[in-house]
Amino acid sequence: MASLRRPDLDVGAGTEVVWNRQSTEFVVAADAVSLLMPFVEPWFAASVRRAIPALDPSAAAAARTFVRQELEHQRQHRRFNAVLTARCPRLSRPQERMRRVYGWLARTRSLRFSLAFAAASETIAYSLARWTSDHLAEFLRGADPVVVDLFVWHLAEEVEHKSVAFDAWSALDGSRWRYARAGCLSLVLLGWFTLWSIAVMLHADRRLRLPGTWWRLSRLVLSFTFEAVPTLLVSSMPGHHPDQLTDPAWYQAWLIDFDARQGLRRPA
Ligand SMILES: [Fe+2]
Ligand SMILES: [Fe+2]
Repeated sequence: MASLRRPDLDVGAGTEVVWNRQSTEFVVAADAVSLLMPFVEPWFAASVRRAIPALDPSAAAAARTFVRQELEHQRQHRRFNAVLTARCPRLSRPQERMRRVYGWLARTRSLRFSLAFAAASETIAYSLARWTSDHLAEFLRGADPVVVDLFVWHLAEEVEHKSVAFDAWSALDGSRWRYARAGCLSLVLLGWFTLWSIAVMLHADRRLRLPGTWWRLSRLVLSFTFEAVPTLLVSSMPGHHPDQLTDPAWYQAWLIDFDARQGLRRPA
């Protein structure tokens, strides 16, 4: 069962864009994903909130928790993104485009498409959590600990609520074809915006022309693609439910430790 948390994750104005110099490409990829959060998570939260009246009491309770978790995620990422943008002002351009594209989608798409987009995107977020689980070393070798907490807390809660948007979409629509189309669009937009932001940050760090940078970045992008695309394909098949996916067990243990370190700071 997912829990509500309002953690103290003040990254501070002195935080570097490359918050782990041992893993520059991994770090800027994580930053690029962070930049998207304030533009997508409020849309997901609003879509699931609109579905609540059609859900049974237990699904409705899970949906309410989901909405509050997603709004807290984007609130924390917004603060982090402000630090990134102050350090690398050229990141304003991809963010402005994100605002326009996701804003247009949120305004013009039906509730059924929005729920399919949220459900498929949550599957991609879950894939990201599983993929990150295999890249833990990037978080362990000299990384800024507050930024690590921000990302691991978010990914752990994505694992906690992996089924909620899917259940809301199932209750109101359930069209696997719409889900597959929305998932493709979500993945394409994720790829476009993250690669753009990554290029901006690597350019500012004078690493864009180094062959080693491209080699390591290509390996990361390929390995994530091989995690996310098959999971999205499987989840588009009739009869599949996210509960059938096996969670990395350590996220739950990490959250117990995180709650203890945060003094069980929970919203009322
Ligand atoms: Fe989230
Ligand atoms: Fe989520």
